[in-house]
Amino acid sequence: MMNVYWNGEVMPQDSVRVHPDDRGYLYGDGIYEVIRVYQGRCFEAQAHQRRWRQSADWIGLSPQDAALEAICLSLLEANECQKSDAMFYLQVSRGVAPRKHVFPEPAPAASVYGFVKPLARPDLLARPLARAACLPDRRWLDCHIKSISLLGAVMAAQKAHESDCAEAILHREGRVTEGSHTNVFAVVEGVLRTHPADHWILNGISRQVVIEEAHRLGFTVVEEAISLDMLQAASEVFLTGTTVEIWPVQSLDGNPVGDGSMGPVSRQLAQAFDRRVERLVQGS
Ligand code: PDD
Repeated sequence: MMNVYWNGEVMPQDSVRVHPDDRGYLYGDGIYEVIRVYQGRCFEAQAHQRRWRQSADWIGLSPQDAALEAICLSLLEANECQKSDAMFYLQVSRGVAPRKHVFPEPAPAASVYGFVKPLARPDLLARPLARAACLPDRRWLDCHIKSISLLGAVMAAQKAHESDCAEAILHREGRVTEGSHTNVFAVVEGVLRTHPADHWILNGISRQVVIEEAHRLGFTVVEEAISLDMLQAASEVFLTGTTVEIWPVQSLDGNPVGDGSMGPVSRQLAQAFDRRVERLVQGS
């Protein structure tokens, strides 16, 4: 039986009782974080902690003082996987109150739920590349908030899945925004491009890591939206995210990106990502 975190306690998942009037359940009124764990160590824990606080703040749920890394480590221990590769999920909702759209007053206790799940590291240089489907971005306009209201992302991911694709690459008003659960980078005429960190995308922690590593490697990085046409003409396209790390795209709607194999920029960034994980695991 999996042990999970529920409102300050670690307990068997079966013991959790979610109230039907929980605003997370009724409205998707809450935020979440996903952190990658490599051999029992949290990747970029502080950046995730900052984003958690910021998302909570943006929906008027602050202060959220849950210590993500400490909760994650207690869950790893409770599930006897202290040295594992895993992912850690934590969400907080606005709590239980009779259904009424405006924030309940006085504010109820927030409901906090977390779990860890084993997740093996992909071999970044050897795994099959991703097929992606380009779809209109029909989500709300506050995508910078890591909200648990994910219906727009779910619908896009499902549509991509039905066309045998691993991810949906979304576009709004002719501009490529991000994936359903990843950020999108493209190499256009030798320049690495990605959408700026505004309200049209989630500012991914992996995105930030990749930009930092790209600068370190001497690549030019431009944080400006590209058109769908530019994406289709890119020599390389790759996705970044906590679960996928760096995942080059083989094809867009069935049309190959470049020659359909991993390009040199993606390769160097994947190697830099590997080194970063290695440093974390070695504790340096
Ligand atoms: N998703 N964009 C969206 C819409 C996302 O949902 C995610 C992450 C990302 C990448 O962010 P990060 O690098 O911080 O993981 C970008 C998580 C993993 C999920 O919903 O499972």
